[in-house]
Amino acid sequence: MVKEAEQITDDVAELVASAHRVAVLTGAGISAESGVPTFREAQTGLWERFSAEDLATVEAFENDPALVWTWYRWRQSLIQAVEPNPGHSALADWQAQLRARQGELSIVTQNVDDLHERAGAEVLGHLHGSIFTHRCVECAEPAELPAPQYNGFEPPSDSEQPPACLACAHGVLRPNVVWFGEMLPAEAFEDASAAIRSADLVLVVGTSGIVQPAASLPLLAMERRTPLVEVNPEPTELTEVMDYSLRGPSGTLLAQMVQASR
Ligand code: APR
Repeated sequence: MVKEAEQITDDVAELVASAHRVAVLTGAGISAESGVPTFREAQTGLWERFSAEDLATVEAFENDPALVWTWYRWRQSLIQAVEPNPGHSALADWQAQLRARQGELSIVTQNVDDLHERAGAEVLGHLHGSIFTHRCVECAEPAELPAPQYNGFEPPSDSEQPPACLACAHGVLRPNVVWFGEMLPAEAFEDASAAIRSADLVLVVGTSGIVQPAASLPLLAMERRTPLVEVNPEPTELTEVMDYSLRGPSGTLLAQMVQASR
């Protein structure tokens, strides 16, 4: 039976204090306090009639490449314009502390942003890729692009076409992210599975748990009876497999956890 609380409880504080190998699965919620909208929030501007699920697919890109390309380029500007928040910093501090004691805190994220890294953490795997890299739809060659010049806080009024690939001259560039229905990078998924299997505490932070296969990763901990703790202001698809569900923002709750780990 999941135990729910709005603050870190004594039980959770004890788990945190004794954990030597921690695996953390993060989702869009950890970046929400930085000002990056989650995937289930209403869109604005050119995209107000579309949900994230409508845009993050191969079909959407084929139907309207400019609409999808501009969405990603604009989100790059938004991510570059915001800062990591106390949740990202808490995980970075906790990782450094555990490493100093020959332990490990492995961060596996579904986020395509770089806010964990900018807070000073090392990320084991970006399960859904990175918004800052691009590749050709035809030859798959990676391509470097200059940073987009959008105001990340205001959606643009016009869309731009994706650039042509200079390597093969046949395809156009797409963001190097994992769209719905696409395979996850195998190495990142295997590393994530291994980290969860070898952890003595698993945290699931800021994810709705509805997108597979990432949402199945916490089940690996459940099979091994490794304590599972969720951090999310709302109940999720994963709540019922948790031992503890801490109902609040990750900035506050992860800061409490890192205190308890000292
Ligand atoms: N702290 C913690 N969690 C929060 C916060 C917060 N301050 N604010 C919101 N949340 C939670 C929401 O309650 C929700 O459960 O974050 C979760 C965000 O859910 P989603 O938007 O579904 O994000 P995520 O689970 O990461 O989505 C998975 O879907 O579109 C794809 O590839 C995309 O990686 C993404 C994947």
